[in-house]
Amino acid sequence: MSSSLVNKILELKRKRNAVILAHNYQVAEIQDIADFVGDSLGLSVQAAATQADVIVFCGVYFMAETAAILSPNKTVLLPDKHAGCPMADMITAEQLSKLKAEHPQALVVCYVNSTAEVKALCDYCCTSSNAAKLVENLPEDKDIIFVPDQHLGAFVQARSGRKLILWPGFCPTHVRMTAEQVNDARIAHPGAVVLAHPECGPAVRAVADQLLSTSQMIAFAGKSPANRFIIATEEGILHSLRKKYPHKEFYPVSDKAVCPNMKKITLEKLLWSLEDMQTVISVSPAIAQHARRALDRMLEVLPDKS
Ligand code: 13P
Ligand code: SF4
Repeated sequence: MSSSLVNKILELKRKRNAVILAHNYQVAEIQDIADFVGDSLGLSVQAAATQADVIVFCGVYFMAETAAILSPNKTVLLPDKHAGCPMADMITAEQLSKLKAEHPQALVVCYVNSTAEVKALCDYCCTSSNAAKLVENLPEDKDIIFVPDQHLGAFVQARSGRKLILWPGFCPTHVRMTAEQVNDARIAHPGAVVLAHPECGPAVRAVADQLLSTSQMIAFAGKSPANRFIIATEEGILHSLRKKYPHKEFYPVSDKAVCPNMKKITLEKLLWSLEDMQTVISVSPAIAQHARRALDRMLEVLPDKS
């Protein structure tokens, strides 16, 4: 890592009174320079609580939007405006409005991996950590629409016992992982515990030992008496895990488990972002107000945001 690049970023960060947030899927050098590393909502909540004037979000577009919704008085920067989330873009506000019209009595829950416009049409937002708990807490006589991830939705259905109206969205990075890869990894690393993200498809979910969000994986690996883990999620998390638990061993289920959008953020782009104050991510006040209601309702039902 270029130390002059790192020093320039740190200097500008101080000058701008900025805070740098990195999702667990970011490249190692971005994680290492960040003030906070974590999951999307946890990062936004942390950022809103800081005294910083500027939030640089090293993640994807919907995460920066969420930070902007929760911190309306701060400037939110995304170092590459093309870092999007294909899953979030799999449902538009128009499509959701149509689905809602088909189920007018249903409550609408959206995964945080959704656009601000979609969040604005929802009753509740959720993360992969709290989706099942949130759904369990909803009134039993209500139908529930769950968007956009069909796989997280199916996992929530199984955990909560509630039948959901699912949208056929998916994460291209997670659905590419296979049960065969998990089984091969088990043979290569006997006795290792398999941790998979609920965004994985049904075959991987069926053979995993634990289904956990990224922040839950990090917590589980620390508490577990096991010393070896096979990780079925985006490979960036291996850096967080190895850094936190250097005495434990972590193996990716596949070296192709990479989210190309998360990897668009580099140290150079982070520096340019702070130099030029680009790209500012903002959400129109009307959309932000409605989207914030869905985020706040999640926090009301589940005060522990994890
Ligand atoms: P979490 O970090 O909330 O588990 O999310 C995973 C993900 O795919 C983010 O894009
Ligand atoms: Fe979206 Fe999947 Fe990338 Fe997460 S890992 S940002 S869900 S494409």
